[in-house]
Amino acid sequence: MGKALDGVRILDFTHVQSGPTCTQLLAWLGADVIKVERPGEGDATRGQLRDIPGVDSLYFTMLNHNKRSVTINTKKPGGMAVLDRLIATCDVMVENFAPGALDRMGITWEHIQAINPRMIVASVKGFGPGPYEDCKVYENVAQCAGGAASTTGLEDGIPMVTGAQIGDSGTGLHLALGIVAALYQRTHSGRGQKVLAPMQDAVLNLCRVKLRDQQRLERTHTLHEFPQYPDGKFGEAVPRAGNASGGGQPGSILRCKGWEADPNAYIYFITQAAVWPAICRVIGEEGWVDDDAFKTPQARLLHLKPIFRRIEQWTMTKDKYEAMEILNKYDIPCGPILSMKEIAYEPSLRETGTVVEVDHPTRGKYLTVGNPIKLSDSPTEVTRSPLLGEHTDEVLGQLGFGADEISALRADGAV
Ligand code: COA
Repeated sequence: MGKALDGVRILDFTHVQSGPTCTQLLAWLGADVIKVERPGEGDATRGQLRDIPGVDSLYFTMLNHNKRSVTINTKKPGGMAVLDRLIATCDVMVENFAPGALDRMGITWEHIQAINPRMIVASVKGFGPGPYEDCKVYENVAQCAGGAASTTGLEDGIPMVTGAQIGDSGTGLHLALGIVAALYQRTHSGRGQKVLAPMQDAVLNLCRVKLRDQQRLERTHTLHEFPQYPDGKFGEAVPRAGNASGGGQPGSILRCKGWEADPNAYIYFITQAAVWPAICRVIGEEGWVDDDAFKTPQARLLHLKPIFRRIEQWTMTKDKYEAMEILNKYDIPCGPILSMKEIAYEPSLRETGTVVEVDHPTRGKYLTVGNPIKLSDSPTEVTRSPLLGEHTDEVLGQLGFGADEISALRADGAV
C-alpha cells in the first residue's frame, strides 16, 4: 500500500525536539526525510540524557524514526555544495535553528529560491516578529510565554509548566500541518513559500480557551466553574484552576482505593449534566436528584466542593479501574490517572501501534510512541532512528556524487 506523502522529499535541518517531531510525523506519513547533521557531533540530543554510555539516547531515537542521516558541514564550501544539491532535489526544508543561524550559514530564502523556487522552507522559532524575535527558546520558555504556565497549577500555587511538550511537540504538529498545506497549495501555484510556526503562538493556540476565559472575566468579573468560585476572589487575569474542568461540565481529580500508597490511584470525574441523576444514584444520594440545591447545573456550581467531596467518598471505596467500569455503565465521563508504566504495558495501545517496540543496532529493543494519527490508506510502520551519518554515502550517491568525490569531501571534513 502507498503512503500519503509518497514522493515528497524533506531536507530535515532540525535538531532537539520541536523540528524533529515535525519531520518524524512527515516521515510516518510517507515522506523521504533526510536529516542533515554536523559531522562528528550530530544532533545534540544524541548525547543528552543518555541511559547507555556511547549509544544514541532515547531522547534522540524517539524523535527521529523513519529518517535517513547525512552528515554535512555547511561551514565548508564542499559541504555547502552538497547542501545546494539537496536543496535542488528536495520539496521542503525544515529547520529550527536559532534566529539568524540559517542566514549566517548563507542559506537565505533568496539563495534557496534561486536554486529551487518550488521549495517550501518551514521554520520553528521561539517567537514571531516582535520584541523577542531574536531569542533562543526551549520548551518551558514557550509554555511560560504562551500563557500555559500562568493558567496551570493549583489555585494558590506558583505558575506551573505541564509535562506535555506543548511548546516543542505541539509546535512541531502545527508546522507539519503548515507544510502539508503549502505542499497542497504548490500543486496549484507551482511555487514554494515560507512556513513559520512560532512556539509562543502554538502554545497560545493550545491555550485558546484561557483567552476565552480572560474575556469572560473582564466582562463578568467571575468564572463560575473555577475553584475560586463562590468563596474566593478573582483578580484581573485568568487564575490557575487546579484540576477543575476547563469546559462547561465541572470535573475534578478524585482519590480512589489505594491512594495512600499509589501516587496514581486517582480518577478524573466529570459531573456531566446529562448524567447527574445517574451520578446521584451511583453514589447513594438519590435525594439530590430533586433537591433544589443540586437539581440544576447552575445550582450545583455553588456547591461543587461538597459535591466532589461526597463523590470522592464513593471513589475511595473502589480502585480506579473498578470505578471506571461502574461509571461507564451509566455513561458518566471519567478517566483513570494512568502512570507511564501503565501506559507502557497497556495492550490496546500496543495493538493500535501507538506504543511500539523498536529494535536498534546499538541500543537493542526500546519502546516508543508511534504515529498518533491513523490514516486508513496510509499505515505507519515505525522504523528505528538512523546512526549518525549512516546514509551519507547512499544519499550523496543519489545526488550524483561519485565515490572519489565522496572520499575527498570526507577527507576535507565537509561530510
Ligand atoms: N554544519 C555546520 N554548522 C552547523 C550545522 C552543520 N550541519 N548545523 C548547525 N550548525 C551551527 C549553526 O550554524 C549555528 O552556528 P552559528 O551560531 O555560528 O550561527 C550553531 O550550529 C548552533 O545553532 P543554534 O540553533 O544556535 O543551536 P543552539 O544549540 O545554540 O540553540 C536552540 C538551540 C534550540 C535554543 C535554538 O536552536 C533555537 O532557539 N531554535 C528555535 C526554537 C526551537 O526550535 N526551540 C526548541 C528546540 S526543542
